[in-house]
Amino acid sequence: MASIVPVLLRLLLLLLPLPLIRDHLWPSHRRPTPQDDAGELHPIFLVPGASCSDLEARLTEAYRPSTAHCGAMKGKGWFGLWENNTELLVHDYADCSLEQMTLVYDPAANEYRNLPGVETRVPNFGSAWSFGYKNPVNRLQRAQCLGKLRDWLEELGYRDGDTMFGAPYDFRYAPPVPGQTSEVYSRYFSEFMALVEAATKKKQKKAVILGHSYGGMVALEFVRSTPRAWRDAHIERLVLVAPTLQDGFVGSVMKFITGTGIIFVPTATSTRPMWRSFESAMASFPSPAVFGREPLVVTKRRNYSACDMEDLLAALGFGEGVEPFRRRAVPRMYSLEAPMVPMTCINAVGNKTPLQLVLWDDDDDDLLDASPEVAAYGDGDGEINLISMLAFDTEMGRQPGQEKRFKSVKIANANHSTIAIYDFALKRIIQEIIEVNQLCVYRWVGW
Ligand SMILES: *[C@@H]1O[C@H](CO)[C@@H](O)[C@H](O)[C@H]1NC(C)=O
Ligand SMILES: *[C@@H]1O[C@H](CO)[C@@H](O)[C@H](O)[C@H]1NC(C)=O
Ligand SMILES: *[C@@H]1O[C@H](CO)[C@@H](O)[C@H](O)[C@H]1NC(C)=O
Repeated sequence: MASIVPVLLRLLLLLLPLPLIRDHLWPSHRRPTPQDDAGELHPIFLVPGASCSDLEARLTEAYRPSTAHCGAMKGKGWFGLWENNTELLVHDYADCSLEQMTLVYDPAANEYRNLPGVETRVPNFGSAWSFGYKNPVNRLQRAQCLGKLRDWLEELGYRDGDTMFGAPYDFRYAPPVPGQTSEVYSRYFSEFMALVEAATKKKQKKAVILGHSYGGMVALEFVRSTPRAWRDAHIERLVLVAPTLQDGFVGSVMKFITGTGIIFVPTATSTRPMWRSFESAMASFPSPAVFGREPLVVTKRRNYSACDMEDLLAALGFGEGVEPFRRRAVPRMYSLEAPMVPMTCINAVGNKTPLQLVLWDDDDDDLLDASPEVAAYGDGDGEINLISMLAFDTEMGRQPGQEKRFKSVKIANANHSTIAIYDFALKRIIQEIIEVNQLCVYRWVGW
């Protein structure tokens, strides 16, 4: 009974605007403390969007820099590669970091790798403060990288390292679908499992896994990679916020063409070669299952539908992308198995979202320097097309064992980014977490 009261109180507080809660009901002398919540909250694990996680690099003798300057850090140990950009700028190192982040596809292993001689790691795994904070002046970045959600969770009593954790990842790589291998993600998935095991054991509560945007795809694949019995024993709910999913979106092709898929780049230099080398750059290409034979990219000579992405890659002068696209990205489009844990998917809708691009090339045979414009918009979150969201909803709602444990929430007046920033949208996300934690109270008071 004793533990029910603060729980119920918090539930009621949620109905009030948050500033009011902060200012009047939790004055500074009575902020929730970890003790208040011991054994109460389901531990939560945050997986942020692409470009949020930090990367560190170490250069070995095998590294062959394009310029001597870029070899300066050889043999000097770990240094910040991304996104500790102040240091990069100070040392005029930004271009080098773009080079050192580049990936190569290894056809023998059917996996992506770092450049020879470049070792990378994601620092501070486990902490919800391990991403999106390195650049304090960029408040938008902080918010887009779940910074505000983290603040709100703290208001609810969540504490980093105790009930709240972060699972940053190497966003250059795409999480493997069943049947694919990935050295980078095998390591990440087992670290993630160990983290979840430790926290759920300590709290005797199952975990909530929350992923935003590309982090939603990572979170989903993480759950799907675990044994069924493990999932049942350790996962209370999977919350996907504006996830990029298997059916992809047209905007990802636009980003591939321009090479601007990575955000918050500290330099004016073209990021195109780097971005196109990432596995993540092609991981969300539109799937034929949803986009069919509709022309998605219109050019003078011919049109490209979701079925013609290999030809498009070649026309863009990126023929080397055809094999990894076929062997790494296409299998994701057909990887539809539900995660089989309670899941909420929250999307923003009602935004103009690219549905068809036009590429006005000159009369050459290639589209090397053509710059895309949006020729037609459809509904969506500004990035992800509504038809992809609905296809996912349909699929999850269809699979026995998932359909009764799947909730789809659509939010208007927010988009792909602001869904993690606007108060009303965050409130809807937080509501899921409250609900997970209060289920017994709902039942107890007969709601
Ligand atoms: C950025 O990296 C440098 C060393 O590379 C380090 O001294 C500094 O503390 C880092 N900044 C932040 C905010 O982590
Ligand atoms: C390409 O698609 C556009 C828009 O749907 C259409 O008007 C045009 O006729 C198509 N061009 C070719 C070559 O099929
Ligand atoms: C979302 O809305 C914000 C604010 O209006 C805007 O700056 C941003 O470009 C939009 N993003 C997308 C993906 O539509």
